[in-house]
Amino acid sequence: MKPINVGLLGLGTVGAGTIEVLRRNKEEIARRAGREIRITHASARDLTKPRNFSLDGIALLASADALVAHPDVDIVCELIGGDTFTKALVLKAIANGKHVVTANKALLAKHGTEIFAAALENRVTVAFEGAVAGGVPIIKALREGLTANRIEWIAGIINGTSNFILSEMRSRGTSFASVLKEAQAKGYAETDPTFDIEGIDAAHKLTILSAIAFGVPPQFDKAYTEGISQLTDKDIKYAEQLGYRIKLLGITRRAKDGIELRVHPTLIPEKRLIANVEGVMNAILVKGDAVGATLYYGRGAGGEATASAVVADLVDVARMMTADPEHRVPHLSFQPDQLHDTPILRMDQVETGCYLRLRAYDRPGVMADVTRILADGSISIDAILQKEAEEGEDLVDVIILTHRSVEANVNTAIARMEALPTIAAKVVRIRLEELN
Ligand code: NDP
Ligand code: HSE
Repeated sequence: MKPINVGLLGLGTVGAGTIEVLRRNKEEIARRAGREIRITHASARDLTKPRNFSLDGIALLASADALVAHPDVDIVCELIGGDTFTKALVLKAIANGKHVVTANKALLAKHGTEIFAAALENRVTVAFEGAVAGGVPIIKALREGLTANRIEWIAGIINGTSNFILSEMRSRGTSFASVLKEAQAKGYAETDPTFDIEGIDAAHKLTILSAIAFGVPPQFDKAYTEGISQLTDKDIKYAEQLGYRIKLLGITRRAKDGIELRVHPTLIPEKRLIANVEGVMNAILVKGDAVGATLYYGRGAGGEATASAVVADLVDVARMMTADPEHRVPHLSFQPDQLHDTPILRMDQVETGCYLRLRAYDRPGVMADVTRILADGSISIDAILQKEAEEGEDLVDVIILTHRSVEANVNTAIARMEALPTIAAKVVRIRLEELN
């Protein structure tokens, strides 16, 4: 059978990994795909840049536009990133009748609806396993393996960089800034690492997972996003003393009035498997009504790990190229005319448990005031812990764990606590999920 020709856009971390994996496992991949898959053309920003991998047999094109229009290219593999220039490129590739494989979660979370519609119209496929959780085949699991289930919720560690930072801070006490540099050197971080540490990258991925799980259009603009940049060693330590780990979790859940779509640091009981996922590893818990909870685990970032997903997509596309478009697996699992407009809930409508840390003057009556405020907001207390004052200090840390409560009520309670003369600083709030 005629080989499949791939045009590669981007020769960075994932581009290089893809070239290497395709080259190393060429025979095995051809046996699986039924034909050879080879990269015939590539483009990058600076073609004069020295690369520490071989580009033998690959025609380098200065123009990405020329690549997506090239008559010899069957599949365009977009590994550049970003959502402006690449959106135009991907749409051009689709208009030219090319199938597209991409690891670009920002692009799909923001413009997925338009891109999938264009693909449908042009009878091509857009495959994106590498866009979520690096090498973990979560898209395939959710879209195909769990297709019998009504999905109830998904909770995942879906940003390798932030998990790497949190793990190193907790286990080695390394500073935030130096671990971030290490993550960048290892090729885990996005071009703009604020996407990783502020939860934006995780929210892009969660938006895609949510769309596939619940049959709704990707709506990144409605995701609640909070990162790890404000987390302190102190809270990581206190959480540990209470039997919890703090992880940056992406959570999407089918609730009574809509869908939760949120990324934030979260306390998880340390006995849960997912609480013990360390370093660049990702893990995604998916709860289906029939199967129960399932867990998917693996490397969430890095060149070859992500290439594993990218190449799997290339094989999938190669296998289904001859199938008529109506019989392909739909991009978002649900048939395109079966997507629902179930609302995405605002964060203040969501219910979670909470860890609250108050910096309080060590005076009689403080606890009474605080617990009254919580009771007024129908917020039930699970545990309270008062730390000893540091030598010579009049202030103590008070940690309160609450049961699940509506976020709006917690917001009001926090504002009232911060207004008390006995509370000396902003209240730290970290959400808590039992995940049971
Ligand atoms: P890199 O920054 O390592 O590579 C980006 C590549 O795109 C470079 O080769 C660069 O060229 C090229 N490029 C940039 N701008 C242009 C342009 N205007 N025209 C043509 N080429 C351009 O990124 P990654 O490989 O890390 O990421 C690629 C994609 O994969 C992103 O969408 C990212 O979010 C996603 N991803 C990354 C993962 C990872 O672990 N790194 C994991 C999962 C997904 P040059 O080399 O000449 O500068
Ligand atoms: N920057 C991303 C991460 C790459 O750290 O998870 C994988 O998508």
